[in-house]
Amino acid sequence: MDRVLRVLSEKREQALQGGGAKRIAQQHAKGKLTARERLTVLLDAGSFEEWDLFKEHRCYDFGMEQERIPGDGVVTGHGTIHGRRVFVFSQDFTVFGGSLSEAHAEKICKVMDHAMRVGAPVIGLNDSGGARIQEGVASLGGYAEVFQRNVLASGVIPQISVIMGPCAGGAVYSPAMTDFIFMVRDTSYMFVTGPDVVKTVTHEEVTAEELGGAVTHTTKSGVADAAFDNDVEALLAVRRLFDFLPLNNRERPPVRTCRDDPERLDFSLDTLIPTNPNQPYDMKELITKVVDEGDFFELQPDFAQNVVIGFGRFNGRTAGIVANQPMVLAGCLDIKSSIKAARFVRFCDAFHIPLVTFVDVPGFLPGTAQEYGGIIKHGAKLLFAYAEATVPKVTVITRKAYGGAYDVMSSKHLRGDVNLAWPTAEIAVMGPKGAVEIIFRAEKGDAERIAAREAEYREKFANPFVAAQRGFVDDVIMPHSTRRRIIRALSLLETKELSNPWRKHCNLPL
Ligand code: HXC
Repeated sequence: MDRVLRVLSEKREQALQGGGAKRIAQQHAKGKLTARERLTVLLDAGSFEEWDLFKEHRCYDFGMEQERIPGDGVVTGHGTIHGRRVFVFSQDFTVFGGSLSEAHAEKICKVMDHAMRVGAPVIGLNDSGGARIQEGVASLGGYAEVFQRNVLASGVIPQISVIMGPCAGGAVYSPAMTDFIFMVRDTSYMFVTGPDVVKTVTHEEVTAEELGGAVTHTTKSGVADAAFDNDVEALLAVRRLFDFLPLNNRERPPVRTCRDDPERLDFSLDTLIPTNPNQPYDMKELITKVVDEGDFFELQPDFAQNVVIGFGRFNGRTAGIVANQPMVLAGCLDIKSSIKAARFVRFCDAFHIPLVTFVDVPGFLPGTAQEYGGIIKHGAKLLFAYAEATVPKVTVITRKAYGGAYDVMSSKHLRGDVNLAWPTAEIAVMGPKGAVEIIFRAEKGDAERIAAREAEYREKFANPFVAAQRGFVDDVIMPHSTRRRIIRALSLLETKELSNPWRKHCNLPL
């Protein structure tokens, strides 16, 4: 008995060394943690149960039969985050550069299959040289097996990816199909083709960091949701995000003890809107003043900043928040912001997370760049997402709600449940200036008359009462009572039941 126990201990000890002390030191020298160290930060202390520690590749080419490292470059298993179950895989760059072999893929697929069966999220920590070159098509098959599972798991269990090293070629498509991607600045990158191929094909000189680093993907492409300075910060942020989410699409998000009075009034909101309708203000100030304890987890904060998305809690319950940001492009909706918000709305709807929408939108951004880029199709994504969503939808119009953008932003007509407006709301087809220029074109030369027409239009339409008369907004509220009113609305809607007609799937304007 002693002997078998010793053998087990030795085998385990050997496996835990991964690619060995030298490669671990190299990993640390790059400012990166090892695959196992990362899991220690991510998961509750002592909760990790490892699976397939002894699994090895089955490759006999290029001398690979001489090189077998137990675990084969990925650490897999399950653990807990704040006591809630999660499945994980963490690629080990010290073993064959974390490259994905057939066996490595099987390990990832095993945790994904179990996660689906028991209804728990999957978090993948990516740090890999891509397809295991020595294995050829077996490795490509392995990737596709993972991709297939990503797709079937989408909308069933939350999937989170953290990019903590290289992630290149087709390998990028697994994270791309997950719900959230976090990256680490300076040590991670994602691209379909690397700088060398780019140079050969397009003659562009670009570094890996410029092409696909964390800054690029959180500011230019919008591929990633957030960037962090180091591994620890990224992993702690994942723990925070995880707390907002349900474990699967049959469960509700966790309810946290709320130490913030649900009836709390905030009188500073009464003066948030500037007197001049063209002057911006920070919508994030409103968000942080109404959510529990000012705790707002913003996603994509540096991309398409004209719309703000993220999670907050109202009386302890998670809500997805979408808000126009008047500080950027006057809060107009454009291609990037529509796509950003649409994907978020669809995530929330898939996972029973109520939507709270703050509206101050002068319309869709005009111009050839937008039209040629397909704003019609991309703007329709957001409209589609809101119209399709059956979760509780609470909308607060703070100022402008003009034109098609009024309809899009969770309006009553798209099954908004509780639609509120501040007294400063202006709900109309367009702003007074544009409207008068069109309907009183004949009076164009007469400045005095035009000014009078504008004043008349403003008086008549630039307010919330025309919409309120029709029941398009349920109430015009004092800004200071916004938190209280949202919480009451969400509480009312906890038992909401609404479903869409049966179909195989919708045909979202992709
Ligand atoms: C096998 C690999 C590997 C790979 C790295 N290694 N990538 N082994 N298959 N894909 C091994 C190296 O041989 C080395 O082994 C160790 O990992 C560390 O690699 P280094 O090159 O020393 O590290 P570094 O200088 O940090 O460079 C990292 C790297 C580079 C940029 C990722 O290794 C690299 O370019 N690798 C190849 C990337 C690639 O072309 N992959 C295929 C992409 S196509 P030793 O024993 O020396 O420690 C793809 C298709 C997916 O992935 C398709 C899905 C549909």
